[in-house]
Amino acid sequence: MPQIIVVNQSGEESSVDAAEGRTLMEVIRDNGFDELLALCGGCCSCATCHVHIDPAYIDKLPAMSEDENDLLDSSDHRNEFSRLSCQVPVTGVLEGCKVTIAQED
Ligand code: FES
Repeated sequence: MPQIIVVNQSGEESSVDAAEGRTLMEVIRDNGFDELLALCGGCCSCATCHVHIDPAYIDKLPAMSEDENDLLDSSDHRNEFSRLSCQVPVTGVLEGCKVTIAQED
C-alpha cells in the first residue's frame, strides 16, 4: 500500500497509508484531517477538498476534468500544483508523495 505524506494547514507532516482504489480525499478525511472539509462527499461540486500536490508527482496524475478545473478557479489559493483530492485516485505512483491541504478560501 502506498504511503503518502499529508501536510496540514499548519505545515505539520504526517505519514499515512493510502489504500489503492480509494481517492486521495477519502484517505485524508479518513485519517482524521478535519480541515479537509470535502463537503460534497466527492462529487466534484464543492472544491473544499483542494490540495497541493508534490511538484515531482503532478505530471503522474490523471488529467483534470473541465469541471475540476472550473471549480479550482474559484479558489484564491490555486496554483499550478492544485487538484481536488476527490478526483485523484490512489495508485502506486503516489508512493512518497507529499500532499498539502490548501488553506481555506
Ligand atoms: S469533495 Fe467536493 S469537490 Fe471534492
